[in-house]
Formats: sequence, structure tokens, C-alpha cells
Amino acid sequence: MRDPLVDGWAREIKSVRVSVTDKCNFRCKYCMPAEGLEWLPREEVLSFEEIARLVRLLAEMGVDEVRLTGGEPLVRRDLTTLVGMLAKTPGVEDLSLTTNGILLDRLAGPLVEAGLRRINVSLDSLSHTRFAEITRRDALDRVLTGLAEAEKYPELRPIKVNCVAIRGFTEEEVPALAELARRKPYVVRFIEFMPLDADEAWRQDEVLAGGEIRALIEERWPLVEVPAKASSTAKRYRFADGAGEIGFVNPVSEPFCSTCDRIRLTADGRLRTCLFSRREWDLKEPLRGGASDDELADLVRWAIQHKELKHRINEPGFVRASRSMSQIGG
Ligand code: 5AD
Ligand code: SF4
Repeated sequence: MRDPLVDGWAREIKSVRVSVTDKCNFRCKYCMPAEGLEWLPREEVLSFEEIARLVRLLAEMGVDEVRLTGGEPLVRRDLTTLVGMLAKTPGVEDLSLTTNGILLDRLAGPLVEAGLRRINVSLDSLSHTRFAEITRRDALDRVLTGLAEAEKYPELRPIKVNCVAIRGFTEEEVPALAELARRKPYVVRFIEFMPLDADEAWRQDEVLAGGEIRALIEERWPLVEVPAKASSTAKRYRFADGAGEIGFVNPVSEPFCSTCDRIRLTADGRLRTCLFSRREWDLKEPLRGGASDDELADLVRWAIQHKELKHRINEPGFVRASRSMSQIGG
């Protein structure tokens, strides 16, 4: 074991989000442009061995939670192989995946077999036309089939459904998504729209705050708060009258930076200490240049010393990150 990873503000880093590809088969408006956006050249993308080595090192420094993201992680060939490698890494206690769900109908079983135990599926609308409007792909049925397939594996729990909350769009979806949470074993979570869209269309007034959605739900179904872990980004609620859980991730209206225990690794091997970092720390070059484990660990420590105190979305003069969500990894 190595010393724990503590940043310059005394926050201990316990969680890493690993982007395994910048490619995606959707074009969600809040993330990607309708077309364009060049993919990384293949040789720039970390191999499974490179990812596994970095995760092993991070785990030696106390990181126990690993989430695989993209782009769309399931478009990376043989992803189940990486899942198997990471599931066996000592210290990795919680391995999860964030996906748009379109390939889950085929991959849920193999992923569970490889050791995946938790999954987040993006779902912004339960109407075919509105789903196609927001994702720019007509794929609602396949995503629902993917979710149904995931549901068949009791080892894979909780199944979380993530909805990016955008004013003028999401209000209409709230009742159907709340009903989904009541009817299915899915924890439905609303995530406030953040300025990470490639189109740079984000405006503060398009953020539909979690508190507003909660009020909409409570007009019909009273909610009861469920205690969440201190490091959790979500506020959790259950329905007062029966089954089902709803969560709110409110990074804009109620920032949780002070308890942030996360870092991110991009598909091209850069360490990002915040979604809104203006600076990245390249690990690929040292990794491929023969750096020792100790040297890599020192680099990671140095980067984490410089982790940002907080995002400044709500401050005048906020400057966006130079990459969009699909290039960073949700
Ligand atoms: N704001 C908030 N969440 C976003 N995601 C992608 N773009 C944004 C954004 N601009 C989230 C979605 C998706 C995950 C990969 O990242 O919830 O499920
Ligand atoms: Fe793809 Fe996810 Fe971005 Fe949608 S949010 S375009 S599914 S990476």
C-alpha cells in the first residue's frame, strides 16, 4: 500500500472515472455537436493494460471506486475484458459503468459475468419523438430493452437511470420518469445541466434545479429523504407511499465540491482533477516512456495537490473547459 491521496484542500481522493473512448453512437444535445468532433487517433487511446496499471496504482493509494465512462464505453471493443481486469484489481471495491444503454441488450450479461456490479443508464425522455430530439437518435426502444436486460441480473444493482434536467424540456418528462422509478427497480436521478455541451448552448436559465423537480414530483407523490453517504453527489428520496427511489444531483444549485473525492482519466491518458479543469496532467507519455510505478505515483500526487477547490459555474467570468463531456467522461 501507498500513502492515501489527499489534495491541497485536505480532501481524500477515493474515486476515479475512467473514460475508455471518446467515441459515441449518440449525439445528445447537452454533450455533443450534431456532427463533427474528431475522434482521437487510435494510438492516442490508452490500452487496457495501461488503464489497468494506472487503476492498480490509484487503488494502492486508496482509490476504491472505479467508474467506466466514455463517450459511450460500450462501443470500445472487448470492454468486458477490461471490466474483468479491473474487477480483479486489489482495492477496487466498487466497479460501475455509465452508458447510454443502446448496446446493453447484448452486453448486460457478459458485463455482469466479467464482474460489473453497478450501472447507470442515461435516459432523458420516455417519448420516442422527444428522446430522438434530445439524443438525435431514434433509439428509445433499444435503451428500454437494454434496461430490461440489465434488470434480469440481480447482481447488477442498483440500476440508476440518469436524466439531464433542462428547463423547457424536462418538466414534461418528470411525471413519466417518476412513474418509472415507482414501477421498476430503477433509481431515477435528475442531473442539473452543466456547461459541458460541445455546442456551448448552455445558459444559466436553462438549468432546471433539482429542487424545482422535487416540487413537481411532490405535487403528486410526497417524498421522504433517505440519508446519503457524505461523499455522495446525489440527494436521495423515496416515495412516501411505496416503492421507488428518486435522486437529485445538483452541481449548479447546490455545489458539492467541498466533499468531492473524484478524479478523472481521459481516454488519451490525461488526469483531470475537476470536470471544469483548465489544465490536464498527461500520464500517457510517462506511461509509455518507461516511468516506474513510483514515478507515476508521484505525478498523480502532484496533480492532485493542485485539484481545484470548486467549480465557478455560478460566478461572473466563469470560463468553460476546453473539452465537452464526451471527451472528458461523465
Ligand atoms: N450536464 C450534465 N450532465 C451531463 N452529462 C453529459 N453532458 C452533461 C451536461 N452538459 C451526463 C449525462 C450522461 C453522462 C454520461 O454525463 O448524465 O448520462
Ligand atoms: Fe454520448 Fe453520453 Fe454524450 Fe449522449 S451524453 S452524446 S450518450 S457521451
